[in-house]
Amino acid sequence: MTTAIHVGPLPSGIILQSIAACPPKDRESLAAKLAKLEKKIFPSSEAFDYGSELKKKNVGIILAVKEGTQELVGYLVYQRQKSLAWLHKLATIEQERRKGIAKCLVDFLCQQMKKGGCRTISLWVDEVRNPARALYASCAFQQIERLPEYYGPGRTALKLELNIAEH
Ligand SMILES: CC(C)(COP(=O)(O)OP(=O)(O)OC[C@H]1O[C@@H](n2cnc3c(N)ncnc32)[C@H](O)[C@@H]1OP(=O)(O)O)[C@@H](O)C(=O)NCCC(=O)NCCS
Repeated sequence: MTTAIHVGPLPSGIILQSIAACPPKDRESLAAKLAKLEKKIFPSSEAFDYGSELKKKNVGIILAVKEGTQELVGYLVYQRQKSLAWLHKLATIEQERRKGIAKCLVDFLCQQMKKGGCRTISLWVDEVRNPARALYASCAFQQIERLPEYYGPGRTALKLELNIAEH
């Protein structure tokens, strides 16, 4: 059982849920669901160990699910460190892309972090991930650093930041 969050505009039938209210007994199956979806979307070298990540008190996950069926269609993983939040992972399943789901996940993170007194959201993104870069640009993230070889040979990372105090 998780708590539904209301942001919009989300596609009809999609709701966001925070795992903050998810009872420990449900976390194992949720970790398995996330790991399975992540395998389809990201290279294995970037896989998160959700079993241990979910145990960390400052790690949060926002889920986008189909109302009723609870099918997972997107998620965002973040880690809060005082006035900074790291956006670690963000994905939408292929069939549901370009419907505004990722934008809603980011907007929701901004709202929550701002309420909690956080000032900045930071992230690293692979330079070749054009859809992700377009998404972050549409959310007003600014590029502040470029690091060649960050993800491995020939793979450059960009550090982006969003000042949510001004957002
Ligand atoms: C990047 C990703 C999360 C975007 O998810 P999404 O739900 O399709 O994004 P949204 O529908 O919320 O897009 C919001 C805006 O971002 C931009 N955008 C998103 N995908 C884009 C694409 N493929 N091409 C150009 N712009 C894009 C657009 O400005 C879009 O607004 P518009 O559709 O009104 O033009 C999704 O493509 C994905 O999961 N990719 C693989 C994983 C990944 O790269 N994750 C990010 C790195 S951690």
